[in-house]
Amino acid sequence: MLVSATEMLKKAKAGHYAVGQFNINNLEWTKAILQTAQECNSPVILGVSEGAGKYMTGYKTVVGMVNGMLEELNITVPVALHLDHGSYEGCLKCVEAGFSSIMFDGSHYPIEENVAKTKELVKIVAEHGMSLEAEVGSIGGEEDGVIGAGECADPKECKMIADLGVDFLAAGIGNIHGKYPANWKGLSFETLAAVQELTGELPLVLHGGTGIPADQIKKAIDLGVSKINVNTECQLAFADATRKYIEAGKDLEGKGFDPRKLLAPGAEAIKATVKEKMELFGSVNKA
Ligand code: 13P
Repeated sequence: MLVSATEMLKKAKAGHYAVGQFNINNLEWTKAILQTAQECNSPVILGVSEGAGKYMTGYKTVVGMVNGMLEELNITVPVALHLDHGSYEGCLKCVEAGFSSIMFDGSHYPIEENVAKTKELVKIVAEHGMSLEAEVGSIGGEEDGVIGAGECADPKECKMIADLGVDFLAAGIGNIHGKYPANWKGLSFETLAAVQELTGELPLVLHGGTGIPADQIKKAIDLGVSKINVNTECQLAFADATRKYIEAGKDLEGKGFDPRKLLAPGAEAIKATVKEKMELFGSVNKA
C-alpha cells in the first residue's frame, strides 16, 4: 500500500540520512526502482512530473500501475507516489487519482500567492492523509537551451511557508535540474544552514540530485536535507546502456529486437544507479 512521505522523512531527518525520490517515466522505470528499493530494504519516493504523468496517459494510469506492482512484486518497503513540481490544478488531480504525496511548486508566484495556494493545499492533503512539499526559491536548469543559475531561497520566506504546516520543503540553494555546467559554483551551504536554522525539524529537499559530488551530498544531509531528487542520472544511464546494446548489434541477433530484451540493459542500468544513490544517501536498511 502506498504511504505518505511524512513518516519516512521524519525518520530520515532524525537518523541523518536522506530518502531518494526517483522520477518514473514508464513501466520499466517503475519496476526497476521498486525492485531496487526492496533489494536494498530502503524507503523510496516515486516522483512523477506533470509531463511524465501526461506521457503515461494520466495520473490514474500511474496509480493503477504502481499499486499493481506493489502487490505483484511483493513490495513491503515504504513507497510514496509523489507529484513533482505540481501546479495547483495538477495537485488537485493527483489527490483525486490516489497519489500519496504532492509537491506544489509555487516558487514562481509572488510569495503572498505562494503562501495562499500552499495554505489551501495543506488543508486538502490533511483530509486525505497525504504529504505536501512546497518550494521557495526556484530551482534553475536548462530550458530551451538556456541554463539558468539556481536561485538561493530567502530563509525568512522559507520560514513563512514552513509555518503553514507543509511536511517538507524544497529551498533553492544554487542547485539546478539536469547536468551542472562546468562553471557551477556548487551548493550554497550558507543558505542551507540559514534555512535549517529557521525551519528546525522540518525535512528539507534537495532537487537536481544528478551530478552533485558525493561530498556535497553528504554535507547537505548533515545540514538537514532528508529527501534528494534524482531524475536525469537514471535517464542518462538508461540511454547509455541502450545505445551500447544497439551499437553492439544485439538487436539484430536472434530475437534481440524483442522489447523485453532491448530494454533490459537500460533497466539494469537504472537499478545500478538507484542502488548507488541509496547507498550514498544512507537509506539502505532503513525501511
Ligand atoms: P535531476 O534531473 O537533475 O536529477 O533533478 C531531479 C529533480 O530535482 C526532480 O524534481
